[in-house]
Amino acid sequence: KKPKVTVVGSINMDLVTITSQVPKRGETLFGEHFQMNPGGKGANQAVAAARLGAHVQLIGCVGKDRFGEDIVAHLQEQGVDVSNVEPVTDVTATATIVVADQDNSIIVVPGANNYVTASFVESRREVIANSDILVLQLEIPLDGVRKAVQIAKENGVKVILNPAPIQSLPSDLIQDIDYLTPNEHEQMLLRQDRSAEELSGKLIVTKGSEGVCIYEEGREINVPAYKIDVVDTTGAGDSFNGGLAYALGKGVSLRDACKYGNAVAALSTTKLGAQTGMPTGAEVEAFINSRG
Ligand code: RIB
Ligand code: NA
Repeated sequence: KKPKVTVVGSINMDLVTITSQVPKRGETLFGEHFQMNPGGKGANQAVAAARLGAHVQLIGCVGKDRFGEDIVAHLQEQGVDVSNVEPVTDVTATATIVVADQDNSIIVVPGANNYVTASFVESRREVIANSDILVLQLEIPLDGVRKAVQIAKENGVKVILNPAPIQSLPSDLIQDIDYLTPNEHEQMLLRQDRSAEELSGKLIVTKGSEGVCIYEEGREINVPAYKIDVVDTTGAGDSFNGGLAYALGKGVSLRDACKYGNAVAALSTTKLGAQTGMPTGAEVEAFINSRG
């Protein structure tokens, strides 16, 4: 059975510049290459899960502009249900990404993502209530995230929160989340002023080429990454989350779901662009079988 994954989150147009050098303040440099790709953590996670074979609903907003139109058409092609992607009177969010030496830095202008408020999310209550798993990030207003979590809890829907970009989160929100998936930088901030028990059993730290670490009952379980030739790590975390959601929705163990997510993330990094390279379910299976 296809797991029903709902993603509430950001939808961005990624404006990507590939360069060997990053300019200093006030400096102009020539870069190598420019590319525009659909992105945004929410949309990326939705596409990752849809390509794997999940039934995916994306709840979010785009602008009534060309980027918005292009992105919605693209999401549809990827098999994401866009009935709850609302065009609003603001610009579609952009992410200006500089890719230099396998690493990237990103500036996001939220625009339409700011419209994913508590009342907008409330108006989509039924969609969340009818899903197996809810996936969230922090590129939309926090009250929108809180509302989505509340609706999920009321309906017994499991919640994954990818706390990126990181901000301080209230304890009552963390309590209601089943899985938290920060990267190493985000987890340092997340764990400040917090007891280990508060995060036990729900904390999954993504560590890039080192794989992921699950923290439960005072022990750490490392799930190693797959070694692969990396072209672009943009969206690797989102691919992991999409894979995790799909696998958990299928009912596999947390450890196996992390392994599955690692495979999805690894394959996604072989192509330039956040969503480019995200594998299908069959591709992941073949990859895991070939690597063990
Ligand atoms: O996680 C990668 C994403 O972060 C990019 O697609 C970009 O849109 C930023 O939001
Ligand atoms: Na990619």
